[in-house]
Amino acid sequence: MANFDIDPDIRKAKTLSSEFYTDQQYFELSKERIFTKSWQLIGTKDEIDNLKPLTLLENFLDEPVLIIKNNNGSFNCFSNVCTHRGKVLVEEPAAASLIRCGYHGRRFSLAGKFLSMPEFDGVENFPSDSDNLPRIASASWGNFLFASVDPAAPFEDFMGGTNPLIDIAAFSGSKLVSKHEYEVNAHWALYCENYLEGFHIPFVHHSLNEIVDYGSYTTETFRYSSLQTALSEPGAIATGLDFVDEKNPVAVAAGSDPDMIAGRYLFIFPNLMFNFYPWGISVNIVKPISPGKTKVEFLKYVSDESKVETGAGADLHRVELEDEKVVESVQKGIRSRFYSHGKYSPTREQGTHHFHRLIAEFMK
Ligand code: FES
Ligand SMILES: [Fe+2]
Repeated sequence: MANFDIDPDIRKAKTLSSEFYTDQQYFELSKERIFTKSWQLIGTKDEIDNLKPLTLLENFLDEPVLIIKNNNGSFNCFSNVCTHRGKVLVEEPAAASLIRCGYHGRRFSLAGKFLSMPEFDGVENFPSDSDNLPRIASASWGNFLFASVDPAAPFEDFMGGTNPLIDIAAFSGSKLVSKHEYEVNAHWALYCENYLEGFHIPFVHHSLNEIVDYGSYTTETFRYSSLQTALSEPGAIATGLDFVDEKNPVAVAAGSDPDMIAGRYLFIFPNLMFNFYPWGISVNIVKPISPGKTKVEFLKYVSDESKVETGAGADLHRVELEDEKVVESVQKGIRSRFYSHGKYSPTREQGTHHFHRLIAEFMK
């Protein structure tokens, strides 16, 4: 039985026990206990014309969802499964004024309401509310859209106190320029917890370490999110984008100009990473496949082309390969009969501790 009691005092706490990563049963449980309760990125507003079907976390949650952009520019999200016998309704992005199931002709409005059904005369208690399409919770942040099957808390709570610290509107003009998917031979949570500390930068990322000032690296934790800030080494290029600096304790504490921020790394539990760089945003979506396999999607949104190959966000592919190598090594290590858990650095692993506490909270 895995230990899901992570002491709130980081100096006393032990890390999550290794069974969480190795046992198929916890992997399965994490679907309903963690992932259905969380918010998933479903795209950006500008890529949705009218009706867009998608699957929430393919090969894991596999939940068919339909995003609908209304005439007034607002977005709704519904289950994309017909309430008759369960066919997936909309298979391709489409422009339409109503939805008709391709199996037996049931129709729905774009507000998800049941409209009509052939050959159903005399059916009792029909139609009822359960013939409408179930609405799926959705939210937006800047240009980004999110959905949740059964959210543990509103999206705003998942963002926590990070919102005033990042001026997302400053990135509204950014364009998606590339999509890339990495396959990592490791548990999804091992990938995330590596991301959540800069402790390994001097050991694992030698070139990044020359750009980032390790001494001033900080982590702030919120209810369901955390924010890491890396300042630049003198001479290295900073973000130059407007973070709300007067509320930025990092800049104040370090006596630094907010323009000296090399990168900001926002993590939204359990699997979303928004990385802010001089040139724009790199988004990583961590997609569990099996206890030992994870896919990580990298989406690159550029707002300033001239800075793309500069600073902490210059060589993300190299940094990713360095991270994968170390995380895959941990995947092998945690299977050892001699390893069950460790302890945390109180100064460098607050983000990982916070992440483990959330896993424990959701898994209980
Ligand atoms: S499954 Fe949709 S109408 Fe039968
Ligand atoms: Fe790393």
